Amino acid sequence: MVICFIGIGSNLGNREKNIEKAIAKLRKIKNIKIEKVSRLYRTRPEGYIRQNDFLNGAIRLQTNLEAGELLTHLKKIEKDLGRYETFRFGPRIIDLDILIYGNQRIKTKDLAIPHPRMYARDFVLTPLADVAPELFKHKIIRTISAMRAFIKLLRAENKTIGFVPTMGYLHQGHLSLVRAAKKDCDKVVVSIFVNPAQFGSKEDFRRYPRDLKRDEKLLKQIGVDAIFYPGVKAVYPKGYLTYVSVEKITERLCGKYRPGHFRGVATIVTKLFNIVQPDTAYFGQKDFQQARVIEKIISDLNIPLKVKVVPIVREPDGLAMSSRNVYLSPQERKDAVVLYRSLRNAEASVKRGERVVKVIIRNITKEIKKIAYARIDYVEMADTETLEKVDKINGEVVIALAVWFGKTRLIDNILVMAKPNCRLARLRSGGQAGIKW
Ligand code: PAF
Repeated sequence: MVICFIGIGSNLGNREKNIEKAIAKLRKIKNIKIEKVSRLYRTRPEGYIRQNDFLNGAIRLQTNLEAGELLTHLKKIEKDLGRYETFRFGPRIIDLDILIYGNQRIKTKDLAIPHPRMYARDFVLTPLADVAPELFKHKIIRTISAMRAFIKLLRAENKTIGFVPTMGYLHQGHLSLVRAAKKDCDKVVVSIFVNPAQFGSKEDFRRYPRDLKRDEKLLKQIGVDAIFYPGVKAVYPKGYLTYVSVEKITERLCGKYRPGHFRGVATIVTKLFNIVQPDTAYFGQKDFQQARVIEKIISDLNIPLKVKVVPIVREPDGLAMSSRNVYLSPQERKDAVVLYRSLRNAEASVKRGERVVKVIIRNITKEIKKIAYARIDYVEMADTETLEKVDKINGEVVIALAVWFGKTRLIDNILVMAKPNCRLARLRSGGQAGIKW
């Protein structure tokens, strides 16, 4: 017996009755065992819109008929119920399509399986998710429609959704975000999309490390509910024109050196939030400025979700984990530890009472410059809200830096404070669960 999924729809006459009748006829066929019928969903017609809405559903059945034989039965049911040929996208009394037939791929003149357009159609995917949740679970979901259908399924079950957007090539830093999401939410979605819009023309978009198989394995081990892996054309189709641009805070720190970067980040995360509609989204503190930008988008655009920022995960020698660390030569990798060392020294000096920003920055710079070939983009101390440079420490401040080691640009940061009892003091004593702004 083969498990098979059928799409069913009607938009002429008594639509429920037509669907009921078709299902009754299917049940009567020897060698077919209907296992489950989805709810019926009302959908707008495609193409020719001056017609009634459709009711669409999906059927899960077992059969030992060949796919071609099954198709013949479906055509007969359509005919018996009075379906007549209209134009493409025209109205119809009943429509029965084989969506999936076991794990077979079939392409003949009359039949294409899996149904070639099913992943682009909400009206197929939504009912399909009712009868075939396993198709959407632990799966790589490649289209926006399929992602939305999966989310609808979770929402129908009242599940909370945690979302971890990534560009893949996962490391322990990403996995710490997934763990935080798993702790807080019923279901976890991870997206993997190397977003061209956030790379400058001279940046490393093409050589950015990619390894879906490895990422998938890591995510399977930790256990996520879906991996969203859309293609560039689905995210930015031909004629794409809309970008999200956050002012001021994107012009500071990395923004000065990577024009357009945060516009690309803001655009993709807004799009991903619209697609995944999570309850909580998780970001790493390593990209401190990015986290602030995202937080701003959420409050300014009234996006109903929470953001959690999870502490930086470091290699045993202190280097902040980053997908880009693979670019480093063995010597550069060794030397790059200077970043964390200099930040820790700065933190220690603040703890000892140093308040003069110039002095702190000079010390960090001096330390980094011991690596003769390291090229500093910036070392700055900034207000954690506005990201504006500060000239004295009063409360919570981020020390952030970006430094090139050969062809690799690394960023890192540390939060310091000058007064006891500020939020950071609570965070430091409150363990590593994550900063919640
Ligand atoms: O931090 C990243 O990996 C990316 O900037 C993000 C948030 C996934 C957007 O592409």
